[in-house]
Amino acid sequence: MRKLRLGVNIDHVATIRNARGGHHPDPVRAARMAAEAGADGITAHLREDRRHISDHDIRRLAVEIPLPLNLEMAATAEMLEIALRHKPKAACIVPEKREELTTEGGLDVVGAKQHIRRYIKELSANNIRVSLFIDPDIEQVSAAYDVGAAVVELHTGSYCDVLGDARNEELKRIADAAEYGSAKGLEIHAGHGLSYDTVMDIAAIPEIVELNIGHFLIGEAIFVGLPPAIRHMRELMDQGRAQIAGKRSVYGKR
Ligand code: PXP
Repeated sequence: MRKLRLGVNIDHVATIRNARGGHHPDPVRAARMAAEAGADGITAHLREDRRHISDHDIRRLAVEIPLPLNLEMAATAEMLEIALRHKPKAACIVPEKREELTTEGGLDVVGAKQHIRRYIKELSANNIRVSLFIDPDIEQVSAAYDVGAAVVELHTGSYCDVLGDARNEELKRIADAAEYGSAKGLEIHAGHGLSYDTVMDIAAIPEIVELNIGHFLIGEAIFVGLPPAIRHMRELMDQGRAQIAGKRSVYGKR
């Protein structure tokens, strides 16, 4: 069974810091604690408006933490220049709108193939592994393959936002996209909106090898501390993964 990695997104430590300015709480300290608690990587999104993570945070994360850094970035000249300067282990290309509260949907790779291909080429030539953050949609997965992405991260936000039959349908979309992408040779990641309630069924999709989780963990850390929150998430991921061996699927397809 393939190992499932946990990438901890520390953006919202910076959100709290920026509410007052100054240096506290420090996202780099959170990244070090996440490493000690068993995270496999750290994810940070440098947004155009710098609402949470700052350029200085990225500079420090690139050299001060013991885990691989995954830089979430829009496909813009400014972000490309920053990525090439700091050379994170990985970059995840995300769509970005100034007015949104969070990354609301996946990248439209189908509609911007040429543009995205150019960014993948430049980043990959500098040994940065590129993933594309897309909706769990077969056409988008196929386009990601066509433009030369090594990895796709499937957006789990819609799955997390609904309940009942609608949630099962969303889960099936994610599982189908993961199966399709993996068969094409893409590495499959998933993330956005995941919590203790939603992580197990995603972890039970065998093609998925990495989850990136932020907001829920940082929120839960207020009540129980960051290391216990991460450790519990890790346990639930492992329990979800263990279901694969038992019945191949929690959504009844395989
Ligand atoms: N993956 C990607 C590509 C994201 O943009 C985000 C949010 O920054 C996440 C995962 C983590 O989402 P959340 O903070 O809701 O766990």
